[in-house]
Amino acid sequence: MSDEVSRWRDELQCVVDANPGPLRRITVFRATDSTQNAARRMNARSGEVITAARQTAGRGRMGRQWADTYDDGIAVTMVLPREDGGRLAIAGAVAAAHAAEATLNRRVGIKWPNDVIVDGRKLAGVLVEQVANVALLGIGMNVLQTSWPAELADRAVSMRQLGADCTRLNALRALLKAASTALALDERQLVHEYALRDVLVGANATFNVPGERITGTVLQVDPFRGLLVGNDEGEHWLAAATASMHIG
Ligand code: BTN
Repeated sequence: MSDEVSRWRDELQCVVDANPGPLRRITVFRATDSTQNAARRMNARSGEVITAARQTAGRGRMGRQWADTYDDGIAVTMVLPREDGGRLAIAGAVAAAHAAEATLNRRVGIKWPNDVIVDGRKLAGVLVEQVANVALLGIGMNVLQTSWPAELADRAVSMRQLGADCTRLNALRALLKAASTALALDERQLVHEYALRDVLVGANATFNVPGERITGTVLQVDPFRGLLVGNDEGEHWLAAATASMHIG
Protein backbone atom coordinates (compact mmCIF):
# COMPACT_ATOMS: atom_id res chain seq x y z
CA MET A 1 0.00 0.00 0.00
CA SER A 2 1.14 3.52 -0.65
CA ASP A 3 1.97 5.64 2.41
CA GLU A 4 -1.32 7.40 2.13
CA VAL A 5 -3.39 4.23 1.92
CA SER A 6 -1.64 2.65 4.90
CA ARG A 7 -3.06 5.52 7.00
CA TRP A 8 -6.62 5.14 5.76
CA ARG A 9 -7.87 2.60 8.30
CA ASP A 10 -6.76 4.50 11.39
CA GLU A 11 -7.75 7.89 10.00
CA LEU A 12 -11.19 6.71 8.93
CA GLN A 13 -11.73 4.86 12.19
CA CYS A 14 -11.19 8.21 13.94
CA VAL A 15 -13.91 9.74 11.77
CA VAL A 16 -16.52 7.11 12.60
CA ASP A 17 -15.55 7.17 16.28
CA ALA A 18 -16.00 10.94 16.36
CA ASN A 19 -19.34 10.99 14.54
CA PRO A 20 -22.21 9.30 16.33
CA GLY A 21 -24.29 7.17 14.01
CA PRO A 22 -24.57 3.70 12.62
CA LEU A 23 -21.00 3.41 11.27
CA ARG A 24 -18.59 1.58 13.58
CA ARG A 25 -15.66 -0.34 12.09
CA ILE A 26 -13.47 0.33 9.05
CA THR A 27 -11.87 -2.28 6.82
CA VAL A 28 -9.52 -1.16 4.04
CA PHE A 29 -8.48 -3.46 1.21
CA ARG A 30 -5.54 -2.81 -1.05
CA ALA A 31 -7.66 -3.97 -3.99
CA THR A 32 -10.95 -5.72 -4.46
CA ASP A 33 -13.35 -6.46 -7.29
CA SER A 34 -16.23 -4.65 -5.61
CA THR A 35 -16.59 -3.42 -2.05
CA GLN A 36 -20.16 -4.78 -2.19
CA ASN A 37 -18.74 -8.24 -2.94
CA ALA A 38 -16.08 -7.84 -0.27
CA ALA A 39 -18.79 -7.08 2.30
CA ARG A 40 -20.69 -10.20 1.24
CA ARG A 41 -17.58 -12.40 1.41
CA MET A 42 -16.79 -11.09 4.90
CA ASN A 43 -20.38 -11.63 6.08
CA ALA A 44 -20.00 -8.07 7.26
CA ARG A 45 -22.29 -6.98 10.04
CA SER A 46 -24.25 -3.81 10.47
CA GLY A 47 -21.91 -0.92 11.27
CA GLU A 48 -19.00 -2.16 9.19
CA VAL A 49 -17.55 0.08 6.46
CA ILE A 50 -15.50 -1.43 3.66
CA THR A 51 -13.33 0.56 1.32
CA ALA A 52 -10.53 -0.29 -1.06
CA ALA A 53 -7.56 1.58 -2.46
CA ARG A 54 -8.56 0.16 -5.81
CA GLN A 55 -11.87 -1.30 -6.94
CA THR A 56 -11.52 -3.12 -10.24
CA ALA A 57 -15.04 -4.35 -11.04
CA GLY A 58 -17.52 -2.15 -9.26
CA ARG A 59 -21.14 -2.33 -10.20
CA GLY A 60 -23.79 0.29 -10.53
CA ARG A 61 -27.56 0.34 -10.65
CA MET A 62 -29.54 -1.60 -13.22
CA GLY A 63 -26.69 -3.97 -14.05
CA ARG A 64 -24.33 -1.21 -15.10
CA GLN A 65 -20.60 -1.20 -14.37
CA TRP A 66 -18.78 1.30 -12.21
CA ALA A 67 -15.41 2.08 -13.75
CA ASP A 68 -12.18 0.82 -12.18
CA THR A 69 -11.19 3.40 -9.59
CA TYR A 70 -7.44 2.86 -10.12
CA ASP A 71 -5.78 5.36 -7.75
CA ASP A 72 -8.30 8.07 -8.53
CA GLY A 73 -11.76 7.25 -7.22
CA ILE A 74 -13.15 6.16 -3.90
CA ALA A 75 -15.43 3.19 -3.35
CA VAL A 76 -17.16 2.55 -0.05
CA THR A 77 -19.73 0.06 1.19
CA MET A 78 -21.54 0.78 4.46
CA VAL A 79 -23.29 -2.17 6.04
CA LEU A 80 -26.53 -1.09 7.68
CA PRO A 81 -29.66 -2.57 9.16
CA ARG A 82 -31.92 -3.69 6.38
CA GLU A 83 -34.76 -1.31 5.62
CA ASP A 84 -37.28 -1.10 2.83
CA GLY A 85 -38.57 2.00 1.12
CA GLY A 86 -35.54 3.64 -0.41
CA ARG A 87 -34.43 5.80 2.52
CA LEU A 88 -30.87 4.45 2.42
CA ALA A 89 -30.37 5.26 -1.26
CA ILE A 90 -31.63 8.79 -0.74
CA ALA A 91 -29.49 9.21 2.38
CA GLY A 92 -26.51 7.97 0.36
CA ALA A 93 -27.10 10.56 -2.36
CA VAL A 94 -27.58 13.34 0.19
CA ALA A 95 -24.40 12.22 2.01
CA ALA A 96 -22.34 12.18 -1.19
CA ALA A 97 -23.72 15.60 -2.14
CA HIS A 98 -22.90 17.06 1.29
CA ALA A 99 -19.39 15.58 1.19
CA ALA A 100 -18.72 17.08 -2.23
CA GLU A 101 -20.17 20.44 -1.21
CA ALA A 102 -18.01 20.59 1.91
CA THR A 103 -14.92 20.38 -0.27
CA LEU A 104 -16.06 22.30 -3.34
CA ASN A 105 -17.81 25.11 -1.46
CA ARG A 106 -20.66 25.01 -3.92
CA ARG A 107 -24.01 23.33 -4.30
CA VAL A 108 -24.09 20.13 -6.33
CA GLY A 109 -27.12 18.47 -7.92
CA ILE A 110 -28.92 15.20 -7.45
CA LYS A 111 -30.43 13.59 -10.51
CA TRP A 112 -33.23 11.21 -9.73
CA PRO A 113 -33.04 8.73 -8.28
CA ASN A 114 -29.62 9.14 -6.69
CA ASP A 115 -26.84 10.35 -9.00
CA VAL A 116 -24.76 13.26 -7.74
CA ILE A 117 -24.03 15.52 -10.65
CA VAL A 118 -22.34 18.81 -11.44
CA ASP A 119 -23.02 20.65 -14.68
CA GLY A 120 -24.70 17.53 -16.07
CA ARG A 121 -21.77 15.21 -15.32
CA LYS A 122 -21.76 12.45 -12.75
CA LEU A 123 -19.56 12.92 -9.70
CA ALA A 124 -20.88 10.10 -7.51
CA GLY A 125 -23.27 7.17 -7.65
CA VAL A 126 -25.15 5.13 -5.09
CA LEU A 127 -26.14 1.47 -5.07
CA VAL A 128 -28.14 -0.27 -2.34
CA GLU A 129 -28.28 -4.05 -2.16
CA GLN A 130 -30.11 -6.13 0.43
CA VAL A 131 -28.35 -9.23 1.76
CA ALA A 132 -30.02 -11.41 4.38
CA ASN A 133 -30.70 -9.02 7.26
CA VAL A 134 -28.41 -6.17 6.22
CA ALA A 135 -28.34 -3.54 3.50
CA LEU A 136 -25.16 -2.67 1.62
CA LEU A 137 -25.05 1.04 0.85
CA GLY A 138 -22.36 1.46 -1.80
CA ILE A 139 -21.09 4.88 -2.83
CA GLY A 140 -18.53 5.62 -5.50
CA MET A 141 -17.09 9.09 -6.02
CA ASN A 142 -14.69 10.43 -8.63
CA VAL A 143 -11.90 12.32 -6.91
CA LEU A 144 -8.58 12.63 -8.74
CA GLN A 145 -9.39 11.69 -12.34
CA THR A 146 -8.12 14.12 -14.95
CA SER A 147 -9.28 12.22 -18.02
CA TRP A 148 -11.86 9.58 -18.90
CA PRO A 149 -12.33 6.72 -21.33
CA ALA A 150 -14.20 7.89 -24.44
CA GLU A 151 -17.54 6.45 -23.31
CA LEU A 152 -17.45 8.49 -20.08
CA ALA A 153 -15.80 11.63 -21.37
CA ASP A 154 -18.94 13.76 -21.56
CA ARG A 155 -20.75 12.10 -18.65
CA ALA A 156 -18.29 11.95 -15.73
CA VAL A 157 -16.45 14.51 -13.66
CA SER A 158 -14.08 14.36 -10.69
CA MET A 159 -13.53 16.57 -7.69
CA ARG A 160 -10.17 17.55 -9.12
CA GLN A 161 -11.71 18.56 -12.44
CA LEU A 162 -14.06 20.79 -10.45
CA GLY A 163 -11.10 22.54 -8.91
CA ALA A 164 -10.85 20.73 -5.57
CA ASP A 165 -7.40 20.18 -4.18
CA CYS A 166 -8.23 17.14 -2.06
CA THR A 167 -6.79 13.69 -1.53
CA ARG A 168 -8.81 10.51 -1.63
CA LEU A 169 -8.44 10.29 2.14
CA ASN A 170 -9.98 13.76 2.50
CA ALA A 171 -12.88 12.69 0.29
CA LEU A 172 -13.39 9.49 2.30
CA ARG A 173 -13.33 11.44 5.55
CA ALA A 174 -15.89 13.91 4.25
CA LEU A 175 -18.10 11.10 2.94
CA LEU A 176 -18.14 9.12 6.20
CA LYS A 177 -18.83 12.25 8.22
CA ALA A 178 -21.66 13.26 5.90
CA ALA A 179 -23.05 9.71 5.89
CA SER A 180 -23.16 9.59 9.69
CA THR A 181 -25.34 12.71 9.58
CA ALA A 182 -27.51 11.81 6.58
CA LEU A 183 -28.29 8.31 7.82
CA ALA A 184 -29.82 9.84 10.95
CA LEU A 185 -32.27 12.02 8.96
CA ASP A 186 -35.89 11.03 8.67
CA GLU A 187 -37.81 10.91 5.39
CA ARG A 188 -39.12 14.46 5.68
CA GLN A 189 -35.62 15.86 6.25
CA LEU A 190 -34.22 13.80 3.39
CA VAL A 191 -36.95 15.00 1.02
CA HIS A 192 -35.99 18.56 1.95
CA GLU A 193 -32.24 18.00 1.41
CA TYR A 194 -33.00 16.24 -1.86
CA ALA A 195 -35.34 18.96 -3.13
CA LEU A 196 -32.66 21.61 -2.57
CA ARG A 197 -30.45 19.76 -5.06
CA ASP A 198 -32.91 18.21 -7.49
CA VAL A 199 -32.02 19.05 -11.10
CA LEU A 200 -34.91 17.44 -12.94
CA VAL A 201 -38.06 19.42 -12.23
CA GLY A 202 -38.96 21.23 -15.42
CA ALA A 203 -36.82 19.03 -17.66
CA ASN A 204 -38.26 17.32 -20.72
CA ALA A 205 -37.24 13.70 -20.83
CA THR A 206 -38.05 10.29 -22.24
CA PHE A 207 -38.36 7.42 -19.78
CA ASN A 208 -38.10 3.74 -20.55
CA VAL A 209 -40.38 1.87 -18.22
CA PRO A 210 -41.34 -1.78 -18.62
CA GLY A 211 -43.40 -2.14 -21.77
CA GLU A 212 -43.44 1.49 -22.85
CA ARG A 213 -41.66 4.80 -23.30
CA ILE A 214 -43.05 7.95 -21.79
CA THR A 215 -41.98 11.38 -22.92
CA GLY A 216 -42.96 14.42 -20.93
CA THR A 217 -42.04 17.16 -18.53
CA VAL A 218 -40.91 16.34 -15.02
CA LEU A 219 -43.47 18.01 -12.76
CA GLN A 220 -42.37 16.76 -9.37
CA VAL A 221 -39.60 14.65 -7.88
CA ASP A 222 -40.33 12.76 -4.70
CA PRO A 223 -37.33 10.61 -3.88
CA PHE A 224 -39.56 8.09 -2.13
CA ARG A 225 -42.38 7.92 -4.69
CA GLY A 226 -40.59 8.58 -7.93
CA LEU A 227 -41.09 11.12 -10.65
CA LEU A 228 -44.32 12.76 -11.72
CA VAL A 229 -44.19 13.23 -15.49
CA GLY A 230 -46.81 15.18 -17.40
CA ASN A 231 -47.67 15.00 -21.09
CA ASP A 232 -50.73 15.27 -23.38
CA GLU A 233 -52.05 11.99 -22.00
CA GLY A 234 -52.00 13.09 -18.38
CA GLU A 235 -49.73 12.66 -15.39
CA HIS A 236 -47.74 9.51 -14.61
CA TRP A 237 -45.82 8.51 -11.47
CA LEU A 238 -42.69 6.55 -12.42
CA ALA A 239 -41.04 4.46 -9.72
CA ALA A 240 -37.30 4.73 -9.31
CA ALA A 241 -36.69 1.04 -9.81
CA THR A 242 -38.24 0.87 -13.26
CA ALA A 243 -37.18 3.82 -15.33
CA SER A 244 -34.06 4.99 -17.08
CA MET A 245 -34.14 8.30 -18.84
CA HIS A 246 -32.78 10.31 -21.70
CA ILE A 247 -33.00 14.02 -21.19
CA GLY A 248 -33.59 16.27 -24.13
C1 BTN B 1 -24.61 3.90 -9.97
O1 BTN B 1 -24.37 5.09 -10.20
O2 BTN B 1 -25.21 3.18 -10.79
C2 BTN B 1 -24.17 3.34 -8.65
C3 BTN B 1 -22.67 3.22 -8.55
C4 BTN B 1 -22.24 2.64 -7.23
C5 BTN B 1 -20.76 2.38 -7.19
C6 BTN B 1 -20.31 2.00 -5.81
S1 BTN B 1 -18.55 2.03 -5.63
C7 BTN B 1 -18.71 1.27 -4.07
C8 BTN B 1 -19.75 0.18 -4.23
N1 BTN B 1 -19.15 -1.01 -4.79
C9 BTN B 1 -19.67 -1.33 -5.97
O3 BTN B 1 -19.37 -2.33 -6.66
N2 BTN B 1 -20.58 -0.41 -6.33
C10 BTN B 1 -20.73 0.61 -5.32
